[in-house]
Amino acid sequence: MDQILIRGGVPLDGTIQISGAKNAGLPLMAASLLSAESLTLTNLPDLADIASMASLLESLGVDVHRNGGEGPLSMCRMTVPTITETTAPYELVRKMRASVLVLGPLLARAGHARVSLPGGCAIGTRPVDLHLKAMQQLGADITLEEGYVDARAPDCGLKGGHIVFPFVTVGGTENALMAATLAEGETVISNAAREPEITDLAHCLVAMGAQIEGIGTDTLKVQGVSSLHGAEYAVVPDRIETGSYAVAAAITGGELKLTGTRLDLIESVAEVLTQCGVDIVEDREAGSLMVSRTNGRLRGVDIMTEPYPGFPTDMQAQLMALLSVADGASMITESIFENRFMHVPELCRMGANINVHGASAIVRGVEQLSAAPVMATDLRASVSLVLAGLTASDETVVSRVYHLDRGYERLPEKLAACGAHITRASE
Ligand code: UD1
Repeated sequence: MDQILIRGGVPLDGTIQISGAKNAGLPLMAASLLSAESLTLTNLPDLADIASMASLLESLGVDVHRNGGEGPLSMCRMTVPTITETTAPYELVRKMRASVLVLGPLLARAGHARVSLPGGCAIGTRPVDLHLKAMQQLGADITLEEGYVDARAPDCGLKGGHIVFPFVTVGGTENALMAATLAEGETVISNAAREPEITDLAHCLVAMGAQIEGIGTDTLKVQGVSSLHGAEYAVVPDRIETGSYAVAAAITGGELKLTGTRLDLIESVAEVLTQCGVDIVEDREAGSLMVSRTNGRLRGVDIMTEPYPGFPTDMQAQLMALLSVADGASMITESIFENRFMHVPELCRMGANINVHGASAIVRGVEQLSAAPVMATDLRASVSLVLAGLTASDETVVSRVYHLDRGYERLPEKLAACGAHITRASE
């Protein structure tokens, strides 16, 4: 298994190209199941999770064609004239929870879906009950057997309905939205998630011929159509990757230009970073951000994770690494997932002073972190350890690099090009 070795203390300086968003790319790929014509995605990142989704789609009969380009030049064309298989097996779903996103499209187009329940996950229980209730609201008959969800549409297909989510769910909204595009009549999705990845999915579906109103709001109105056509669509920049590299600039006291991204995608994160003493300047025309912290210590700040446009849970671990070396105390409250503080003991092993009380963590800033061998159990926790390593004295060794491969495209290379002493090696 690979490890990442980091010798900290170098202020980063340079340019990083931000990749397309993993969390937008995954539902967009699932949307290819909705049409008999090709869906071509550009700016799709080259990541383990994207490869897992490609394997799952292939197992359902989708022809997946990728070129080897990078950034905006990367291309993936998915074509499925006929869906040949409607089961998403446990072996594929257990690798990646987002596999459950094939449920809505399969049900809407093929009338049947059998999807393995994703099972436990490192950051909490993460059930899919709201996805299933939404499908039932569109007329699907759902049974659970042997760890699988078996969903069947009525003979005449799904019927529009009113879906009211009791709380915001990103994946649930995505499944409901995709299924509704081919359901007969009108579907209203209330308390829909408003994450940029949902907006991206909605725009792509519209490009495929779907009729959707209220994009970007918490009420989505969909008029079902009998079929969708092909389209070409560019995946939105990854706001979590953008935020993570902004923290990299801040934690090292360096200056990074982040290209191919936008400030409006990370507004809540930018606001918190600004309060900490980080400068962020957008060049809208060039599509880039300058992030720097060239003078002064970082300041502590309180944050609470919330659905978009609030502070994203996917940036919580990275901010905790930053606040570990800020002046004063900070309180971080995690309101989306239970058990999403697995990075805390590892950061403490690097000298951070953090106490967890229920859903909140009190971080008392220290002068300097020190290197240690560390490992994390999820994607964002892993990147927080890399960020901590960038500022720690001596050499930090981060194990279980496969978590990073799921969500950060060429992370060591991107950081090394900006001066970081970071390498990847086999154990
Ligand atoms: C997505 C993102 C993930 C991000 C999360 C929150 C992808 C592939 N993943 O995950 O990176 O951390 O949004 O922004 O885009 N819940 C239920 N029942 C359900 C569905 C969800 O109780 O049927 C709960 C979850 O346990 C959690 C909360 O709702 O506590 C939010 O989950 P959700 O927004 O659905 O997250 P994901 O779509 O899984």
